[in-house]
Amino acid sequence: MQFRCLPQDLGNAIASWEGDGLVVGLFAEAKALGHQATTHQALVQRFGPELLERLEQRRFKAKPGASICIERLGAKPQTLILVGLGNEDQWDLDRLRQAGAAGAKAAVAAGVGQLGLALPTGEIPAEAAGQAMAEAVRLSLFQDQRFKSESEAPNLPSEVCLLGLGGDLKEINRALEAVDAICSGVELARELVAAPPNVATPQHLADTASQIAQDFGLQYQVLERADCQALGMGAFLGVTQGSDLPPKFIHLTYRPQGGSSRRVALVGKGLTFDSGGYNLKTAGSQIEMMKFDMGGSGAVLGAARAIGQLQPEGVEVHFIVASCENMVSGGAMHPGDILTASNGKTIEINNTDAEGRLTLADALVYACKLDLDAVVDLATLTGACLIALGEEIAGLWSSSDGLAAALLGAGDSSGEPLWRMPLRPSYKQGLKSSIADMKNTGPRPGGSITAALFLQDFVSPNLPWAHLDIAGTAWSDKGRGMDPAGATGFGVRTLVHWVCQGAAT
Ligand code: BES
Ligand code: MN
Ligand code: ZN
Repeated sequence: MQFRCLPQDLGNAIASWEGDGLVVGLFAEAKALGHQATTHQALVQRFGPELLERLEQRRFKAKPGASICIERLGAKPQTLILVGLGNEDQWDLDRLRQAGAAGAKAAVAAGVGQLGLALPTGEIPAEAAGQAMAEAVRLSLFQDQRFKSESEAPNLPSEVCLLGLGGDLKEINRALEAVDAICSGVELARELVAAPPNVATPQHLADTASQIAQDFGLQYQVLERADCQALGMGAFLGVTQGSDLPPKFIHLTYRPQGGSSRRVALVGKGLTFDSGGYNLKTAGSQIEMMKFDMGGSGAVLGAARAIGQLQPEGVEVHFIVASCENMVSGGAMHPGDILTASNGKTIEINNTDAEGRLTLADALVYACKLDLDAVVDLATLTGACLIALGEEIAGLWSSSDGLAAALLGAGDSSGEPLWRMPLRPSYKQGLKSSIADMKNTGPRPGGSITAALFLQDFVSPNLPWAHLDIAGTAWSDKGRGMDPAGATGFGVRTLVHWVCQGAAT
């Protein structure tokens, strides 16, 4: 799919677009006669006043995400799609993405080859609007047919023209160049997360990382079980103990050509399956979903692919994944075991299902030895976070206000909502153990907060650190907006945005 930006104003574009499908956005209630008047005028001029009658007749209310398709046999454009934008005073980047996705899906259903997208930008800068529209089109049309024996080739548009953006064409084209890298990263994350646990094994994650390194010139290193033993990673190794598959501790490094003034690490939870261990997940606890428990590492490897392709200047980025399975067997860790992490801290396992934090503990200790300016971890860590924030918003915990603000901003610009949660020190009481330095599990209330506090114990005290709990956002059963049903690839866009803006703290 190719994206192109045509330097015309919206009215002229609607009046003259010659491709075979045209998507035009309409507000439900216009603020003033600005955009809507031009759009109406151009629509009437081109398609006649009958068009407005038809909309009336079909009771088109221009609700956000709603669309209506008008086929015109023998005419150009052959397909006209009107997309509802909602009220103009609520128009923003998220609504623009939603409208782009709705228009794209309607165009595919109509078999459009060359697609023109005429959506208003309002106050949104043209580059940001162009990038958001292009990402929305590509990501909403993504289909995963790897596991179907007979795949239906999706009928994607060959070319997508962004119409009426205004702004500086050079700047817009630069923003569009990033779209392929970012979307390829999101798609990789989606494919890794959606792949079943008998395919996406720790070895598969390592192979994927190795391929990224080869394709984009990153450095690839993998630590085997024995290497992890030598480093004293007792927490990570405790989790993998019950699995027949060998663990893989994956470390990719991106070093920019011209040297770097900042160095950061992105750490992802990489449980390729989480049975719960001896605290086995029971019916209703979504055990069949637990292939998605490597969503954090999917996002980290997706970001590695995107950053490798984009080659941002000035920031060295380490991508770290301690990957394994959490299984039951005669060799699995027992509830009650005491493990020693690579920083020497001892952990009493009062629940084998709180395994993600154990793998992240050793991964964070390893990352902190790299002389970093910041570390960010992502994990499908707690059901509690899903309960707290639902499926659209990820939880953000950070020891640094600057890093938190930068990530919130990156999430906002890239359409991945984050909400900052508290690292309340007194809640650490819940992790007190009478026999070891700490337990791995606190009480049920505030479960996502105690999980974050647990991780904090494995991060160097003065290093800016942030933790994203993506348990709610990594998967969407029904799909929404730019996300088809299934794995979302949540986190890739935020991470890439943050790194490409200089990884601010
Ligand atoms: N991978 C799960 C988190 C999870 C559970 C995500 C359900 C989405 C849906 C994690 O390893 C886990 O099992 N967490 C436990 C922690 C508890 C034992 C303290 C949880 O959230 O129930
Ligand atoms: Mn678990
Ligand atoms: Zn888990």
